This record gives sequence, structure tokens and C-alpha cells, in this order.
Amino acid sequence: MNNQNNINDIRSKINIVDLISEYVPLTKKGQYYWGICPFHNDKNPSMSVDEKRQTYTCWSCHNSGNVFNFVEQIENISFKEALKKLADRVGVKLEGYQSDFSSKYTKYYDIYELTAKYYQLMINTDKGKKAIEYLEKRGIDSETIKEFGIGLALDEKDKLIKYLKERKYDINTLNDLGLANNDIDTFINRIIFPLDDRNGRIVGFSGRIYDNSKMSKYMNTKETPIFRKGTCLYHYNASKEHVRVSKYVIVMEGFMDVIRASTIGIKNTVALMGTALTEEQISLIKKLSLNVYLCLDGDNPGQDADIHNGELLEKAGLNVKVVCLTDDEDPDSYILKYGEAKFKALIDGALNYSDFKIERLKNNVNFDSDLELSNYVNKVIKEISSINDEIRCEIMLKKLANETNLSYNTLEKKFNEYKNLNEQERTKIEDNTIKRKDLKKDKYERASHEFIYYMLINPKVIKVYDSKKLYFIDANTRNLAAEISYYYHEYGDINIADFYTYLNDKKELLGVFNEVQSLDLNEEISDSTIEEYISVISDYNTRQEIKRLEQLMKKVPDENEKIELLERIRKLRIGE
Ligand code: UTP
Ligand code: MN
Repeated sequence: MNNQNNINDIRSKINIVDLISEYVPLTKKGQYYWGICPFHNDKNPSMSVDEKRQTYTCWSCHNSGNVFNFVEQIENISFKEALKKLADRVGVKLEGYQSDFSSKYTKYYDIYELTAKYYQLMINTDKGKKAIEYLEKRGIDSETIKEFGIGLALDEKDKLIKYLKERKYDINTLNDLGLANNDIDTFINRIIFPLDDRNGRIVGFSGRIYDNSKMSKYMNTKETPIFRKGTCLYHYNASKEHVRVSKYVIVMEGFMDVIRASTIGIKNTVALMGTALTEEQISLIKKLSLNVYLCLDGDNPGQDADIHNGELLEKAGLNVKVVCLTDDEDPDSYILKYGEAKFKALIDGALNYSDFKIERLKNNVNFDSDLELSNYVNKVIKEISSINDEIRCEIMLKKLANETNLSYNTLEKKFNEYKNLNEQERTKIEDNTIKRKDLKKDKYERASHEFIYYMLINPKVIKVYDSKKLYFIDANTRNLAAEISYYYHEYGDINIADFYTYLNDKKELLGVFNEVQSLDLNEEISDSTIEEYISVISDYNTRQEIKRLEQLMKKVPDENEKIELLERIRKLRIGE
């Protein structure tokens, strides 16, 4: 089996700087590498990567860890999966490795997998001819059909149910999975698109009509324990490697758009599947890349969605560009109508989100109306004031002056007003965050965390901890300190990166540990500082104990017991 040593060996074969660089651009400044933290809405680089220690820490959201923790979170996989992934990377074979896919939902995944295979088989039979013809007419060839696992639900009422029942799956499960309904197949006479989750496992289906049927165009698997539409992005898993190369991801509306783009070699795409962009989808996108191109339908609702989604994505710290399709086309129809070269040129010419927004503001403005004009100018200046690039701001203001025949000075004055307002807003928000943090971390908590920080890097402090039998009231803090001491005595010294692995089955301790790791302290510590920590911690413990005893006194009816408690309190007060 994989013991701690094996795991530490795998960890030591990977340089955390190289690994994280593959997900987040890093720049070296001083002793650390810095990058945008992928685990919160980070705008300025607040994540440092410590090459010496082989750990990363976000100074803002306090996420920290070693290579395993990083991969676990950024890929949204379990520790075991992360271990497997990194072991593969360095060519180490894991003994007795069993994937987490064998979870309680294994049966569900198996059934969907089998169902997808079944649908794919059906599209290649005689009964699938019409469907293939339909797809061919839309320019989707057999290679693409295979690539996207497209299949067919036959025009019969219980073919799939029978097929799965023969394989011993019971009807109740099929109902639960949205494949059957009152002994009738959910999907009948539809072209089937399998939907997969972030790891590429099939979690549902969407079926499209392909003849003159009056039924709704698409039908989707209902929500199940493993499928919620708003948490999925079509083509997410398959896009990963392509996004890594192109360094940006294109977000489209429907899966036909993604499939079409794939036929002209554009595969760094995902689709929202007709839903409004959700928080879950934003964090998925963020895991792919910080650069997003919105390529939604070219009609008015599509452009409104560009504005709305762009705002959400920018707030989440992403760089947003917008690909503007013309004539109400969607990417699918645009590519068919204008061809590959034109579409690619459109992507290359994608507008910065702010430019796109300003462009949109112009819509339907009557430039002969003073009121409309001044409204428009104000809105545009407000937009420009949020751009963090002085030169670009100046260029844009000049353009606006020309376009509206207003003096540059007037516009600049207004611009500075907005800029100041933004600044005030920002400092207000920052002040509040700092205040909240300070309130949270009182003197006692700080002393506890700092003491533990030094336990990790200085054996002397562990010895003090052992000899004084230091007690922390908070259970996680207490247990963390005990684990550090144990680890030190067991392994002889503390390698912080490996200690993260050690904490892996003690995840409840990670919260405190992350807080401790994101302290910015000197490596050296004096005896007097240690003394000070201990006295703060003990004082606090005493005060808490006194409080507890006082509460207890209120409850005990017996006079003698009360006197005894009073005596204990008195002794605590005078420090006996
Ligand atoms: P669209 O109506 O734009 O579909 O819906 P499309 O991608 O252009 O498909 P074709 O070209 O008509 O075949 C966008 C997305 O919204 C979801 C689907 O995921 C679709 O890809 N949708 C749409 C549904 O879930 N149900 C519907 O009835 C319609
Ligand atoms: Mn379409």
C-alpha cells in the first residue's frame, strides 16, 4: 500500500513552481513566486508559491497546501485522484490504487455509460439512417459524431428500458436517473448528445428532434443526484487540453455551436446549454483559464447576455473579451454561412469587454437630443473610469471627444470625478475587510496561531509545548498542535509540504493550519516572545475556565458545592 514515505517521494519529484505555472502564470518577486489565486475572486496576485518549502499560500483567502492540495482543488478531485495524477506524471506506479469513481454513484455512471454506448450503436443501424442524414445535412460527419458520442434514441417506446433490464438494472433506478418514466423511455426518436461532468463522466443526455416533430426541440435528463444543469458546462473536460495550449476559453450558448466550432479545429470551447451563467460555472471556467471569450448568439438577447455574463466574469477576476457575431447568427450558423476564415478573424478581433460595453451604449442613442447625448457621454465616461490603464483611458476619452464634438477638458474633468468616486468606493470596501479580519483575530487567537507557526519551524517551541502541556480551548487548534508534536517525534523533523499530506485524513484541521500558514512572520523567535504567547494563552484559558465555573455555580443548588466552586475560582484568579 501507499505509505506516507511513498507519497512524500512522489511529492519530492515534482517542483510546485512548475506544476502551478501550468494553471496560473507566476512571476518571481523576492523569495516567492506570485500569481492570481484561483481559489477566490482574486484580481491582484495574492498567491505566493514558496519553492524552498514546496508550498503555496494565498494571503487573501488563506488557501494553502502542497502539490496534492493544489491539484485536488483546482481539478476538483479527491486526494486519491490527485495522488494518482501526480504519480502518473512522475512515472511512479501506485500499488493497490482504486479510483474514487467506485463511489456510491458507480452504478449511475455505469448505467449512463452503457446507455450512451447503446444510443451510439443505434445511430449506426438501419434505423439510424434518417438521423445520420439530418446530421450530414447540418455538416456533421461521422468523425464528429464519434468525437462527441452522438447517438440515437429509436422511435420505440421502451427499447432502452428492455436493454437495461436485460442487464439486470431495475426500473426504479432508471426512473431515478431520468431514463424512464412510467415504463416508457424518456428519450424517443431523438438524436442524443451525452453530457459529461468536469471529469468526463457521462451524467446525463440531451435529445434533439430531427424530423417534423412538434415536440420541444431539446429534451434534457432531469436533475439527479449527479446531474444539475447549472453546474455543468458542455465539452468542459474535452476542452481542457486545448485551453491550456490556446490560453483562453471560448464560451458559447449551445452544443451545436461547440460541435460546429470543433469541425473547423476550434476546440477550446464550452457551452452554457441555454442556462444563465451560474456561480458554479464561473468557478469551472476559472479553472480552465483566466481569459474568457464570450461568443454568444448575435441577436439582441445574446448581446444582453454578453453584457450580463461579462460583468459576472469580470467581478470574478477574469479577463473578458467579446466575440461579436453579426446578423443574429449563432456561432454554428455563422460558421456555416461565412466560413472558417471569417469566424477565426472574428475571434482574433474580439473586443475587450469594456470596449464592447461602450459600443453597446451607442445603440439607439439619438445624437441630436441633448439629453440623450449627455446621458450617453456620462455612461461612457463612467465605463472608461473603471479601466486600469491610463493610456487607454486617454485614447478613449479623445475618441469620445471627437465623436461627440465636446472638449477633451470637459470630458477629462468628469472622468476624474468618476475616478475619485471609484477610489473612495474601493478604500471603503478594503477598510471593511481589514476591520472584519481584525475583529475575527483577537489577541488570543493570534498568540495561538503564532505559537503553532513556530512549532512547525522550530523544534525548541515543540519542546516548550510538550513540557508546559499547553492547552488550547479550540478543539481544532488543540489537535493540530498535538499532531505537530506527534509528527515531530515520529519523523524527526517537520517538512511542511509533507505535513500537508499527513493532514489529509484530518481535513478538519486544515482550516487552522491554513490560517497559520498565511501568517507573515519572521523565522527567528526569541524566548521572551515564546513566554509572551504562553502567558496570553494561559490567561485566556483561565478566564474561560472562570466563566465556565461561574455558569456552573448558577446551576448547582447545593450550598457546599457552591462554596467549593467559589474557592476554585478564587484560586484561579490569584493564579494558583
Ligand atoms: P438554441 O436554441 O440556441 O439551440 O439553444 P442551438 O444550439 O442553436 O441548437 P440547434 O442549432 O437549433 O440545433 C441553446 C442551448 O439551449 C439548450 C440547449 O443546450 C441548446 O444547445 N436548450 C435549447 C434546451 O435545453 N432546450 C431547448 O428546448 C432549447
Ligand atoms: Mn443553432
